[in-house]
Amino acid sequence: MEGHTKENLIEQYPMEYCHMLELCYGEGMMSEGGRSAIDALFDGISLTGKRVLEIGFGLGGLAHYLSEKYPAIEYYGIEVNPKMHEYASQKYPQKNLNFILPENPDIMPFEADYFDVVFSKGVLVHLQDKQPLFNELYRVLKSDGKFIINDWLSPDGKSFGKRVDQMCELENLALFPLSEAAYCSLLKKSGFQLISIEDENKAYAQYNDAIVQRLKQSDIKATFLHNFTQKEYADSVDAYGWISEAFANNELLARKFLCSK
Ligand SMILES: C[S@@+](CC[C@H](N)C(=O)[O-])C[C@H]1O[C@@H](n2cnc3c(N)ncnc32)[C@H](O)[C@@H]1O
Repeated sequence: MEGHTKENLIEQYPMEYCHMLELCYGEGMMSEGGRSAIDALFDGISLTGKRVLEIGFGLGGLAHYLSEKYPAIEYYGIEVNPKMHEYASQKYPQKNLNFILPENPDIMPFEADYFDVVFSKGVLVHLQDKQPLFNELYRVLKSDGKFIINDWLSPDGKSFGKRVDQMCELENLALFPLSEAAYCSLLKKSGFQLISIEDENKAYAQYNDAIVQRLKQSDIKATFLHNFTQKEYADSVDAYGWISEAFANNELLARKFLCSK
């Protein structure tokens, strides 16, 4: 990953914005769906006693949830943002949670064939070129390991539609549209075999709609307005509404890829 891209990624997530997301998504979370979405990601896969790697741990909420559900997990997470790395390391100091801030996020500081499971939720849409990272993840995955991704895709590989464009402008986010076919071809080029691709649009439309409803609850609204501005509140209600509609109309695709080596 080029230096300026890493800097751009860090700039897109100032800590104040992260805490605003946390209020919408739940403690430690920076993507939608909470526990239901995490359970769906690992559906049929037990992480008991497994060595796992997460790409883009954000505030560390997903790692924390997994460590409660699977006390014998050996978790490693990579995050480009130094402030989030500091936050997660302090908030979740459990010995089996290893939060890592890499020098270069496309180079994994691990030996080959190291992890049982590698996964990422709501992160890779931020990367213009996913190939170098996929190559590295293939290298560090054990021969009988699994690679699991949840990501936002585009139906035509060119755009996520007007609603998501508006949301990105409002929230100052740069997302890179990729079609399902192009995504699969990148995974295959790195050596992965695709076991399944799941359409998660219905659930993701509901998760985002639930955020809008949650923001309208008087206690959540009061907490939001105590910490952030009226404009930020109105923008958040609009943005999650747009995302929900974009999923419901298939302008934006939520997909789960399950891959093996
Ligand atoms: C939308 S947040 C999701 C965070 C977390 N996965 C969650 O669900 O709460 C995206 C995160 O990915 C991080 N990120 C983006 N590209 C990354 C990369 N190549 N390596 C590590 N982290 C990355 C960003 O800094 C940000 O924290």
